[in-house]
Amino acid sequence: MKIIIDSRENIAKKAALRYVELLSKKPDAILGYATGSTPLDLYGELVKLNKEGKISFKDVTTFNLDEYVGLDGSHDQSYRYFMNTNLFSKVDIDVSKTNVPSGLDTSAETAAAYDKAIEAAGGIDIQLLGIGNNGHIGFNEPGTPFGSSTHMVELTESTREANKRFFASIDDVPTHAVTMGIKTVMNAKSIIIIALGKAKAEIVKKTIYGDVTPDVPASVLQLHPDVEFYIDEEAAELIK
Ligand code: F6R
Repeated sequence: MKIIIDSRENIAKKAALRYVELLSKKPDAILGYATGSTPLDLYGELVKLNKEGKISFKDVTTFNLDEYVGLDGSHDQSYRYFMNTNLFSKVDIDVSKTNVPSGLDTSAETAAAYDKAIEAAGGIDIQLLGIGNNGHIGFNEPGTPFGSSTHMVELTESTREANKRFFASIDDVPTHAVTMGIKTVMNAKSIIIIALGKAKAEIVKKTIYGDVTPDVPASVLQLHPDVEFYIDEEAAELIK
């Protein structure tokens, strides 16, 4: 695991360069995207580079990590809406080649089809991840088996609490989500994970230096051959 400690601004710039590099070699790359606060600066940087003509998403296919159960893509807190608003509508991407798990069809068949579609596309070249305060990646909460593929999960109270800032009240935060599994994530050829802010300091330390255990889902990344972990100064407080 390669660890890069830098300012938020530089993290967005450096991570964006990984995409420039990949897409210059492989314009039809398969990208795994994440939502939440963490990737926003990176998405801003990708939009800027696209406007400057330094990167094109014209031929890429994307797969997002997760979606809230019960929200359709027009709901302003759905992850489909997030991606459309923060990235897809602002770059030269073909939206028909962007995939977000369905929050409405939670059947096991549809979940399995998501993994199959990733495989059929040739596998994810770069999977982007944030990290939950409890170590979740995607919405794989503590205790999720490392061998899991895309599936429906019940969100923990701590995750619902952390995400209530986007909703009118905690009662409006969905109780379930559909997420790529840990195996799905680990199958990606490269992984970029970003942690920003003081609240992530403890989990960053556990993820990098703690035991590899389903109790800390992100710790599984210690076993992946190509991970870049971008950490801002605050989130790196306990590992410096
Ligand atoms: C989002 C996702 C989650 C978030 C995590 C951190 O698609 O899968 O794992 O990355 O909850 O969220 P933020 O970035 O809002 O701190």
